Amino acid sequence: MRIYLDHNATTPLRPEVRDAMLRVLDEIHGNPSSVHAEGAAAHALVEGARDRVAEAIGIRSWGPSERLVFTAGASEANNALLRGGPWARRGARIVATNVEHPSVQAPLEVLAAGGVRVERIGVDAEGMLPEGGLEEVLREPPDLVTLIWGNNETGTLLPLAGIAERIRDAGVWLHVDATQVLGKYPVDLRDVPVDSLSLSAHKLNGPKGVGALYLRDARRVAPWLLGGGQERGLRGGTENVPGIAGFGMACELVQKEGDARVSAYAALRDRLWHGIEARIEGVRRNGPADAVLCNTLNVEFEGVAGEVLLQALDLEGVAVSAGAACHSGKVSASHVLLAMGRSVHEAGSCLRFSVGYGVDATQIDRVLEWLDELVQRARGAVGA
Ligand SMILES: Cc1ncc(COP(=O)(O)O)c(C=O)c1O
Repeated sequence: MRIYLDHNATTPLRPEVRDAMLRVLDEIHGNPSSVHAEGAAAHALVEGARDRVAEAIGIRSWGPSERLVFTAGASEANNALLRGGPWARRGARIVATNVEHPSVQAPLEVLAAGGVRVERIGVDAEGMLPEGGLEEVLREPPDLVTLIWGNNETGTLLPLAGIAERIRDAGVWLHVDATQVLGKYPVDLRDVPVDSLSLSAHKLNGPKGVGALYLRDARRVAPWLLGGGQERGLRGGTENVPGIAGFGMACELVQKEGDARVSAYAALRDRLWHGIEARIEGVRRNGPADAVLCNTLNVEFEGVAGEVLLQALDLEGVAVSAGAACHSGKVSASHVLLAMGRSVHEAGSCLRFSVGYGVDATQIDRVLEWLDELVQRARGAVGA
């Protein structure tokens, strides 16, 4: 039996989600845009799922220009927002942290090459915004601020409510990448005044290739897929009805299980960290101990190559993720860990463990036993 501790990369499908999707695949074959009964059934399903996703982020009633647009995932949502607003024009100014996900980083690079001024707020050693960092960039209000709420690599959670209020008071559009947050921390847009938000179903036990972009005022963003005018004209193309139904069910489960799920994940994550601390010397946790996603633990194992440890764990049947990736023989360190002040060498000694659905305490204890032995062995190999 494999032990999967890489839930920040993606999560397994919940049986309830699978059932909801199978029902659509077997029974609902209409096109949501068709006017006959088959079309109406598919349309009702998509709109029901939209309500489920909206409820999971605290939306109970819709403003006239407020939209939740289904996308093919959070990468599409981030790209559409960043490249589709008035902030994408030459001479505009965008502010972002230097720990954003590649689906934000890459469009920002394209925008910068096209004459947009892209400014970065550096993070501190725990991945948090430094005191006064926001005030500094808001002194001359930018056109857009884009922030990753919960970091996929370290789990660092920004104190978004206060940040969002300050940005709203400055009259600036705030885009938030909440991909890692939904299902692991309460997301309630009635308390957090963001203007747009990206989500992805496969991070919360839904299907891959489905996500959403929430827009408080859709008039500010240009349509990004032209076609049959679906998604209120913003994203043409026949909707991924089974995927959307699965996303809706995954959000319904988040709503139902909310706090219980968060505490269960946190207990497993803490068991893992306390076990590592107690058994293995020369370890350091990356990111804050409190303001962190309930399921995420990023650890530096001094003197051990993360990739080697990752592969050794994989051979034992444990899936985790490393702080450096090897592409075509070249090792590139995590930009997030480097931004937090780690050296390339330190970033290369880090592993990310992310727990989730299907993980239990027995599995964590088994991982601890292997980890202890594998780290000692790897250190021996380094010293030899
Ligand atoms: C923070 C963050 N943003 C965006 C994405 C992209 O999501 P998707 O795989 O749905 O395109 C991910 C997924 O890795 C993520 O962790």
